[in-house]
Amino acid sequence: MNSSILTQIVDTARSVAREVIMPQFLTAKRNQKDDGSLFTVVDLAAQEALIERLPRIIDRPVLGEEMPESLQLRLWHESDDGLWCIDPIDGTTNFVNGIPFFGVAIAYIERGETHYGVVYNPMTDEAFYAERGSGAFLNGAALPLRTPAKHLLDAVAGVDFKRIPKTLGDALATQSPFYSQRNFGSSALEWCFVAAARLDVYLHGGQMLWDFAAGSLIATEAGACCSMLDGEALDMSPGRKTPVVVGASTSLYREWMDWLGAHGGR
Ligand code: IPD
Ligand code: CA
Ligand code: CA
Repeated sequence: MNSSILTQIVDTARSVAREVIMPQFLTAKRNQKDDGSLFTVVDLAAQEALIERLPRIIDRPVLGEEMPESLQLRLWHESDDGLWCIDPIDGTTNFVNGIPFFGVAIAYIERGETHYGVVYNPMTDEAFYAERGSGAFLNGAALPLRTPAKHLLDAVAGVDFKRIPKTLGDALATQSPFYSQRNFGSSALEWCFVAAARLDVYLHGGQMLWDFAAGSLIATEAGACCSMLDGEALDMSPGRKTPVVVGASTSLYREWMDWLGAHGGR
């Protein structure tokens, strides 16, 4: 890794996962937020540990998923010149159900652009990371790890049906244009799977900023193309749910967008 900042972010993600998250895997109790989604005391403890450690790398505030929305919005509006955006455990449902697939996602954002992105999977000790303009890597290996499928017909697609419009969801289920479909339950890692070309295309009907801020940089630095479902650039602000479309190559992204547009995606 040539950037010492990236090295420090990866080390921080790994140490928080080892010290705070993994000791409670299989024992953490589930709690419910007002919106019905899950969290555990471990999400809160991991967020606290990251709030304490990340400003030692770059001394800027930390916006975390588990903070009240009013605080997230205030931090966002006060910190255009730099802030951390974290998802302490992405894949909490997997975490509480004992499914070994979840990650720690960390982005450093300036003026609405992610400059550093790290997603760490503690189960496999895989660190995906990127610095803007310098490519993307998995534990030292340049991404992607394989050549993506040439055509949508041969693609392995990550499709998370959450918040996908009904017409589009029905078309995806009954007239799927790809070879095979997966949904792993951790958006941040799914972005990284596109970066690695483990997935060729990806669709999620509505992600929060911390779900995509790190992974979208890692994927695009690996050569992927992405946008919202309407073709506009991703909306980098907290407090809204952003529908994301990704292709591991520009041609796959175009083919995927064309199909989605023709089947209720716009
Ligand atoms: C969730 C996961 C999941 C996705 C949800 C996210 P969380 O994040 O990424 O795969 O479908 O939209 O909210 O709650 O586990 O951090
Ligand atoms: Ca998340
Ligand atoms: Ca989370």
